Order: sequence, then C-alpha cells, then structure tokens
Amino acid sequence: MKECKHLAIIMDCNGRWAKAQGKPRTAGHLVGADNVRTIAIAANEMGIKYLTLYAFSTENWKRSQDEVGYIMKLPSIFFKKYMQEFLDRGFKMNILGELDKLPPATHKVLQDAMDESVNNTGLNLNICMNYGSQREILLAAKHYAQDVLDGKADLSLDEEGFEKYLMTKDFPPVDLLVRTSGELRISNYLLWQIAYAELEFVPESWPEFTPEVLKRCLDEYQNRDRRFGGVKNV
Ligand code: IPE
Ligand code: IPE
Ligand code: MG
Repeated sequence: MKECKHLAIIMDCNGRWAKAQGKPRTAGHLVGADNVRTIAIAANEMGIKYLTLYAFSTENWKRSQDEVGYIMKLPSIFFKKYMQEFLDRGFKMNILGELDKLPPATHKVLQDAMDESVNNTGLNLNICMNYGSQREILLAAKHYAQDVLDGKADLSLDEEGFEKYLMTKDFPPVDLLVRTSGELRISNYLLWQIAYAELEFVPESWPEFTPEVLKRCLDEYQNRDRRFGGVKNV
C-alpha cells in the first residue's frame, strides 16, 4: 500500500456544470461548496491526512463582481452549515492565501474557523482562498530576505529551510494532485509543493466529483511508480 498522506485538488468546472443545467454560475459554486464537505469526509475515511483544496485563486478576481461577491459570501454559508460537524469529526481548518486582502467579513469567518479548530488533530482541511503559488513563493522570498537583513537568517538556507517560509510550512509535500474538469493545467497551484506529486486529471466537474470518483483516483495512485529521481529496485 502506497500511502497518500497529502491530497490536493483543483476544484474546477462549477460554473460550466451549472450553466449546462440552465442555472447561474453561482449555483454551481453553492453545490461545489457542499461537495467540499462530502469529499472531506470521504477523504478522511480513506486515510488522507491533509486535504488541500483550491477554492479561489489570485487570478479569480478577474471575474464579474457578482460572481466574486458570491464566492466571498460562501465561507459564511458553508461554515454555518458544517463547522460543528467538522469540529465533531476533529478536522483542523487551515486557510491558505492572502487573507487580509479579502473582504473583512470573509476574512473574519475564515479566521474564526481556524481559531475554533486550532487544537484538533484529525484531518487537516486546507482551503486555498486568494491563493496563488507564484505570489506565495514571492512572499516567502521577501520574508527570507527580510530575515537576512535583520540578521535572523543567513545564506546557508536550503530547500527544507525555504519551505518554512511557504504557506504550507506545516504540511508534508503533496502526494497526489487531482484536477476536475478535464483541463490539463495547474493554474498557479502549489508549484513548489507538487515537485514530485503524482498528477491526475479527471473529466468530471467538481460538483460531480463523488466519493466513488475519489476512490478511483486513489486506486490509480496505487498503480503509480514513484521514484523521486532514483532508480526502481529490481
Ligand atoms: C471552480 O469552478 C471554482 C472557482 C475557480 C472559483 P469555475 O468557477 O472555474 O468553473 P468553470 O471552470 O468556469 O466551469
Ligand atoms: C483554478 O481554476 C482555480 C480554482 C479552482 C480556484 P480556474 O478556473 O480559475 O483556472 P483556469 O482559468 O481555467 O486556468
Ligand atoms: Mg474553472
């Protein structure tokens, strides 16, 4: 059994899924948010320890005010419905991204979810909100540079040391990255952290991504031969 500790998912295709049913894109985001609960519970039961979900990118601000406004209200709807259940299940909520650039009410809801679950030791449910990997790496580099200027760090920094400046500093590297929607790209997600991740691209949209599809992805992961640059033992 190959362990998959850290699963990351690019939750794509909410809008097209809704449109295909004659509904507004925002309806897809609501169903998509409900599916976060379903998949978090399923992933936990399947032995995942870290689930990192891409909810809103640094590039998603380009969308209409209506759509962005709706997505900013979703955390409040989502946590009102499900936070108690997450706490009962021992989930620890971590929000990754530049939270201080979110509307203050959204920021507060996300901060509260983290504060309320800070002592939990179960599934780490990581939600990326106003997250962009290039931005994350740039902020890390600036923080490191400042530490050098302040005499708190020197030029002996290695990869492991640099990771401590990333938003994912408390998590292991990604084992498996799944993208829904059939698009074959990474869209500025966890560029450092997926260095040796296995990649899977599934045709289902995020609202159609059921626990059965997740199981299929994890079964496929079992067939992968992870070599990390080494040579397979024969
Ligand atoms: C993913 O679905 C959710 C976000 C990026 C906020 P999309 O909203 O990208 O849906 P499509 O890809 O346009 O169908
Ligand atoms: C990636 O999806 C971002 C999230 C899932 C939050 P996008 O829909 O924004 O990506 P592109 O624009 O298709 O690359
Ligand atoms: Mg999309």
